[in-house]
Amino acid sequence: MQDELFFNTGFSPVGILDKLYQEAGVEENYYWSPAVPPVMRCDVSQEIRDYFKKLINVPFNDCGFLKTYPNTVYPIHKDSFRITALNMTLMDYNSDFLTQVVEVKSGKVYKYPVTYVRNEFTILNVSQLHHVTNKSQTLTRIILSMGFKDSDYSKLLQLHSEGKLFNAI
Ligand SMILES: [Fe+2]
Repeated sequence: MQDELFFNTGFSPVGILDKLYQEAGVEENYYWSPAVPPVMRCDVSQEIRDYFKKLINVPFNDCGFLKTYPNTVYPIHKDSFRITALNMTLMDYNSDFLTQVVEVKSGKVYKYPVTYVRNEFTILNVSQLHHVTNKSQTLTRIILSMGFKDSDYSKLLQLHSEGKLFNAI
């Protein structure tokens, strides 16, 4: 069931967008993280962390930008260090970018493309199998990703449905 795997909140953190794009563009801040498989990431500044601490009503752990280079695949996996993610793509819609959550039920494999919308948060159940493909020959895909170790997908979804996931700031 797709709604148990990801959910687009329609919420955009408009007060910090300019700063997010500025930091995401600093090439030298990126490094290969020890996640399995490794991912090219960059951690956000304290300023952005502090902003999100006020904005988001649940404590998060990691917060940074993830890159998928042109013509690469980030293979199928469950996340190493977190059970739920709040993700936001910095990219316009492009059919060359594909994130799929994969569900195996009664011996059948179901694949659900994640419907990311630029500048809007999507809650993603990263304790389920998922993978990323970037078929573009030229564009690097960048997303903002916040990870939760202690709050599961249903908790974030429930808070959002009650209008309590994002604070007015
Ligand atoms: Fe992942």
